Amino acid sequence: MILADKRLLITGVITKDSIAFHAAEQAQGAGASVLLTSFGRARRMTERAAQRLPEPVDVLELDVNKPEDLAALTETLRERWGGVDGALHAIAFAPEDALGGKFLSAPAESAAMAFQTSAFSLKSLAVALEPLMQDGGSIVGMDFDATVAWPIYDWMGVAKAALESVSRYLARDLGPKGIRVNLVAAGPLGTVAARGIPGFEQLAELWQAQAPLGWDVEDPAPVASAICFLLSDAARAISGEILHVDGGFHAIGAPSRPVEGAG
Ligand SMILES: NC(=O)c1ccc[n+]([C@@H]2O[C@H](COP(=O)([O-])OP(=O)(O)OC[C@H]3O[C@@H](n4cnc5c(N)ncnc54)[C@H](O)[C@@H]3O)[C@@H](O)[C@H]2O)c1
Repeated sequence: MILADKRLLITGVITKDSIAFHAAEQAQGAGASVLLTSFGRARRMTERAAQRLPEPVDVLELDVNKPEDLAALTETLRERWGGVDGALHAIAFAPEDALGGKFLSAPAESAAMAFQTSAFSLKSLAVALEPLMQDGGSIVGMDFDATVAWPIYDWMGVAKAALESVSRYLARDLGPKGIRVNLVAAGPLGTVAARGIPGFEQLAELWQAQAPLGWDVEDPAPVASAICFLLSDAARAISGEILHVDGGFHAIGAPSRPVEGAG
């Protein structure tokens, strides 16, 4: 049980398709205690998903952009657990006009909102948890490879590039306290967030054609397994890393199988 006795805070569950739901499910199976977070109107959906975990769990309030929610989170976790061993940041948001082929026309406010919610928030969450990680800890964030430009991803892609950098700076500043910070760069998965991006299907098809191992957009389990590994002591000397869980796509320059729907 690689996560036995670990107390893990898991953000980003909205439905049972969410990557974070699968991470929570596997983490419980690996021995962890889990709490989820959600906020506002999404909370009811998260609570419904929380009841479908192998061991139903509570949902704490967290809009990652609200300092008061972050302060309350620290206190609630202190009361409940006394400390925290790990956290998954599975949070991203970009306004509609910052995605889907609108890169050149997106206003600065929308780009800034994507940055704040999807990248700066990793720092906010880490700072809220740091006082609770007196014996060290592991923080994992969710990336979509930001070393290149993608169709449709636009300012979310820029926000992911920022997230990659934020995780390295956090690894620098929190490493001396024994806190590790890593990202999992996942291939495309058919979650609420992803299906909301116009053109997601094209990207998913390209992946299936190019990933040497193939890729199932309906199966977040391999991504969840990598998250659990990074949260575990098996990864105790790993920080500032980006672990690609994408069927090998990132290593390959062009499709070796025909792209479905092309030609
Ligand atoms: N699905 C994919 O193809 C894919 C691929 C690579 C990386 N990712 C990343 O994985 C993470 C999880 O996304 P997902 O695909 O499971 O989608 P999802 O829609 O299930 O999860 C996104 C979550 O972000 C939360 N969120 C948005 N704004 C928030 C805020 N202000 N405060 C707190 N939470 C907020 C939502 O409530 C939701 O739970 C995201 O960072 C996403 O970019 C997804």
